Amino acid sequence: TGLNAAAQAYGKLYFGSATDNGELTDSEYKAILSDSNEFGQITPGNSMKWDTVEASRGNFDYTKGDVIADLAEANGQKLRCHTLVWYNQLPQWVSNGGFDNATLIEILQNHITEEVTHYKGKCYAWDVVNEAISDDSGAPLRDNIFLSTIGEAYIPIAFAAAAAADPDAKLYYNDYSIEAPGAKSTAAQDIVKLVQSYGVKIDGIGLQDHLIVGSTPSLEDQVANMQAFVDLGVEVAITELDIRAENPDANQYQEQQAKDYAATVGACNKVEACVGVTIWDYTDKYSWVPGVFPGTGGALPWDENLQKKPAYDAILEAY
Ligand code: XIL
Repeated sequence: TGLNAAAQAYGKLYFGSATDNGELTDSEYKAILSDSNEFGQITPGNSMKWDTVEASRGNFDYTKGDVIADLAEANGQKLRCHTLVWYNQLPQWVSNGGFDNATLIEILQNHITEEVTHYKGKCYAWDVVNEAISDDSGAPLRDNIFLSTIGEAYIPIAFAAAAAADPDAKLYYNDYSIEAPGAKSTAAQDIVKLVQSYGVKIDGIGLQDHLIVGSTPSLEDQVANMQAFVDLGVEVAITELDIRAENPDANQYQEQQAKDYAATVGACNKVEACVGVTIWDYTDKYSWVPGVFPGTGGALPWDENLQKKPAYDAILEAY
């Protein structure tokens, strides 16, 4: 038994984890990651991003991404491919290139066509566009080089290029703070409608779910939120789940964290079109959280010593 075995027995496609190239030298870590009873799906945390894949214009390097894709294949795991268009981890040659509209569209299309073609047939899903919504409710779309040069059409243009290159991959829009009803979730629903209004296909919404212990949305709110996306004709997935503690040194956080994991995985279980849950790496040993949210941590179901925490059992029981 394990998390993925339980998820699949419940009728879900997978339970998965992000991973990254550097960690794979840790053999104890890699053995757990490779156990398909625990993880039926993996996501590269960094190695398919624009700055890694096309660091200079027209020069593509898939070395690191291929390691993750090959590992998924060897382990019999699905691969979520992440991510094609994002303002972050975007090389300077794109963001500061001073390109005009037509040239930036060509650069965007070429990047997507090349990368999606390289991984054609290997990706269950692609996060085509990542974090395009502003956190400022007055400005629905984030001000980035694509928006300022191309306008909102960059989003459907990106989905159209991805669909042409791999018609079988599920094409997702992925973002954070869209896991409960609210302005940002509504803006994500508007992105679905925008892409559809261009006659272009969008298959799914990725709910990143970088959550906080004790402030995780209720199961009911998460279900209602997922349903609003599903009503537009797309599937949903939880793509980057972690639930960080503001005070990871106090061990009582683990009990509330287990409840928060149960509410979140439980919400996906209540919605048939929620296909799976991916945690953003599985162990605190390799979590991105302490580096980005100083003073917080303890966000994952396995601790720094690769021991399971109460959150692990809570997920298992949710299935
Ligand atoms: C993070 C990685 O985990 C880190 O290693 C990296 O330094 C920064 O990016 N939203 C996303 C992911 O879509 O790509 C981010 O991953 C976490 C937030």
